[in-house]
Amino acid sequence: MAEQLTAAVRRDSLHGLWSSRFVFILAVTGSAVGLGNIWKFPYIAGENGGGAFVAVYLLCVFAIGLPIMVGEVLIGRRGRRNPVATMTLLGEEEAGHRSWSLVGVLGVVTGFLILSFYSVIAGWTGAYIIKSAIGEFVGAAPEAVVQSFIALSGSAVNSGFWHTAFMGVTVFVVARGVERGLEQAVRFMVPALVVIMLILLGYAMNTGAFQQGFAFLFRPDFRALTGSGVLVAMGQAFFTLSLGMGAVMAYGAYLPQQASIIGTSVAVVCADTAIAILAGLVIFPIVFANGLDPNAGPGLIFETLPLAFGQLPGGAIFGALFFLLLAFAALTSGISLMEPAVAWIMENRGVGRASAAMLVGGVVWALGFMTVLSFNRLSDFRFWNGTIFDNMDFVTTNIMLPLGGLFITVFAGWVMCQNSSADELDETAGSLYRLWLFLARYVAPVAVLLIFFNAIGLLEPIFDALMPQGQL
Ligand code: TRP
Repeated sequence: MAEQLTAAVRRDSLHGLWSSRFVFILAVTGSAVGLGNIWKFPYIAGENGGGAFVAVYLLCVFAIGLPIMVGEVLIGRRGRRNPVATMTLLGEEEAGHRSWSLVGVLGVVTGFLILSFYSVIAGWTGAYIIKSAIGEFVGAAPEAVVQSFIALSGSAVNSGFWHTAFMGVTVFVVARGVERGLEQAVRFMVPALVVIMLILLGYAMNTGAFQQGFAFLFRPDFRALTGSGVLVAMGQAFFTLSLGMGAVMAYGAYLPQQASIIGTSVAVVCADTAIAILAGLVIFPIVFANGLDPNAGPGLIFETLPLAFGQLPGGAIFGALFFLLLAFAALTSGISLMEPAVAWIMENRGVGRASAAMLVGGVVWALGFMTVLSFNRLSDFRFWNGTIFDNMDFVTTNIMLPLGGLFITVFAGWVMCQNSSADELDETAGSLYRLWLFLARYVAPVAVLLIFFNAIGLLEPIFDALMPQGQL
């Protein structure tokens, strides 16, 4: 009886609904597609040796990311509130426990930290709109392009200026409400970005190093893969799909009741993955054709793509357009990083959307200077994983997001009663529901835990026992 009561729960959203499932797909795609695909995926694939890293990444996206995305959306729609309130409400409803709210709080904190560095990188793309448009890269040599990046990232004033500009725009859009503007932006932006990337792919295919770039991405050399490489691949799966911090949960809260969650998630995950692979296929041939280092780190796209634009006819316009679209893609992602905190403050403190957005934006803006300075005045201040930026990225992406995702999938798979989740997925007795439940209950949580244990070396004795020579 009690279970049937739970199954019938239908709540109204506090902040309106997306006008259709399609708009929700656009919004989640806008959140997922961003710097993670185009800036981050290529440089961390480069740092971690390519092929084997990419294989693990793809496995994590489909075996861990996809089921967690379904779980996160379904929790969001069931609760219909900001992630903190949703986890509190559903925790009480499904488990009689208020402590699940901590998962929401963890997400809000993670979002603050990620947005603080995300905004700095997004700011760089803003600077590159101008650099490209004024023809700085026309016919430029590799050294000149590298110098240009250093002039930007190496200057706290320049970099800080663009970070401030990006945060300003993000606050402005969030203050006006997520739905307005977002739909138009994403509907136009994602297809246009793909078109320019396809043009760049054509260029990359003619650099003479396409095969080398292709092999780098897809020929796995598993000996090159370390435990921390696997952890980074999993973190990237969470980061690129916007999972584990409540962004997708917050958007799920505005999803109309009849829309299919599984179908939507599959579409978003496939689109996001295709765009990351496309970015890799564009960038690595350019890297190898110009004798650049695939291991160049966060500057990789800023040091490769301008070279390509510099060679292409009309490259100044193309380049400017590309970085404009990338800045838009970053904006639709930045908005989703901010939305959980803003919705939380609005619902809790009874303040308006604009005040909440400005409050969150101010804190994130200040935090962002840790990243700005990591590339100039504090670039020699290194510990553990590297600069302050490297460590913030590592802790948020590779630890906090997977931890949040672990709690989310445990909640959706184990804590929620199956009547509730099946009802929300509208797959009551279907084999699709059972497949999801299996992935969410067993595969995703076990994989996250194993990858954590592996990264801190806890599995080594087991590997050694299996393979006495220590050869993998
Ligand atoms: N997925 C985005 C990208 O790839 C970044 C992002 C947006 C994000 N929202 C998020 C990352 C929530 C983690 C959590 O650029």
